[in-house]
Amino acid sequence: MNQWIDACATDEVDEEDLIAWEHEGRKIAIYNTEKGFFATDLMCTHEEQSLEDGLVIDCVIECPLHGGRFDICSGKALSAPVYEDLKTYPVDVRDGRVFVQVQ
Ligand code: FES
Repeated sequence: MNQWIDACATDEVDEEDLIAWEHEGRKIAIYNTEKGFFATDLMCTHEEQSLEDGLVIDCVIECPLHGGRFDICSGKALSAPVYEDLKTYPVDVRDGRVFVQVQ
């Protein structure tokens, strides 16, 4: 069953940045972008690299290891060497909290 999980406060994620969050062993990235809050898998689909130290530019995350880029909103892989999309998760913001629907 899909559940909405209270992940963090909105002010825990700086603008144009992300935090790493873990729920029941699943590693998730929570982003604060100009288009709002989003969540994707934390690990790059190219190699086992966390995106936590990656660069957020507009709605794009750039992997810190080889510079592969993903669209944060859709999870779509945008540039080599990443070809596999990131899994995304629905996000809801209520009362200053960020909720993620973990599937
Ligand atoms: S590990 Fe992310 S681009 Fe290579």
